Amino acid sequence: MGNNLLKGKRGIIFGALDEKSIAWKVAERCVEEGATITLTNVPVALRFGGIKELAKQLNAEIIPADATKIEDLENLFTKSMEILGGKIDFVLHSIGMSINVRKKRGYTDIKYDWMQKTFDISAISFHKTMQTAMKLDAMADWGSILGLTYIAAQRTFPDYSEMAESKALLESFARSFGYHFGVKNNVRVNTISQSPTVTTAGSGVKGFNDFLSYADKLSPLGNASSNACADYCVTMFSDLTRMVTMQNLFHDGGFSNMGMGPGVFDWAKEYVKNAENE
Ligand SMILES: NC(=O)c1ccc[n+]([C@@H]2O[C@H](COP(=O)([O-])OP(=O)(O)OC[C@H]3O[C@@H](n4cnc5c(N)ncnc54)[C@H](O)[C@@H]3O)[C@@H](O)[C@H]2O)c1
Repeated sequence: MGNNLLKGKRGIIFGALDEKSIAWKVAERCVEEGATITLTNVPVALRFGGIKELAKQLNAEIIPADATKIEDLENLFTKSMEILGGKIDFVLHSIGMSINVRKKRGYTDIKYDWMQKTFDISAISFHKTMQTAMKLDAMADWGSILGLTYIAAQRTFPDYSEMAESKALLESFARSFGYHFGVKNNVRVNTISQSPTVTTAGSGVKGFNDFLSYADKLSPLGNASSNACADYCVTMFSDLTRMVTMQNLFHDGGFSNMGMGPGVFDWAKEYVKNAENE
């Protein structure tokens, strides 16, 4: 049950593909907290994903947009303001895709035009979203913009490949654009660095289940779920966090500050035993 933390607020949620998507949970929680929202995703996701079901459930309209295309983003913000009846209070950027990972090209054999496409989809789209919103003067005063990221921006996770640089770029855009949006009309921009989570994008990373278990064992609170991430996003969209901006906020059960955790040893012993029995 909600607490009306977002009562009267209008939001745009990118990236709900299916029930496992983090954006799906965020959309549900925002509406539960009293917000009205529009949903958006690439046209192909509308054909194959379950977003229409979510839209029906939340009584929200879907506005298709490829987040790499400025004209789509202009249409998205203009239509969202019409449908929701005013400027936008919050935006969730929940978009990530690596072409080289998807096509199984290793990090030391990268195809550079794919890498550029990856950066465009996973990071530059965040800048494009913010620039479009600013040019259209679409964000309400004291609004809140969030992007979702991963700790591979700071530490090396070999199989995360070019997504590591995508996330570093995304986090940097939050800091740089956060300055300009703050000065313009007190809009805050942050990234949330989430634990590994079982979703379509997450599971595409090689060895995903192993590092999900490893992170779970190393973190004193265990991995943060997508529902917990949705709760955190709600607080960041609410008026309770008005002075937080230009930050990368770890939402990972403590993983990012761990050095060594005894729980990992038991997990590793079990892991080796299972591997030997296979
Ligand atoms: N799953 C994890 O382990 C994890 C951990 C930390 C951060 N994240 C981040 O969370 C975000 C959401 O990912 P998810 O795990 O929910 O997976 P997901 O696959 O459900 O979501 C990714 C979304 O990006 C959308 N997308 C792809 N190209 C697009 C484009 N050009 N324009 C608009 N949308 C596009 C997809 O259609 C999809 O809805 C991503 O930024 C991801 O990197 C995920």
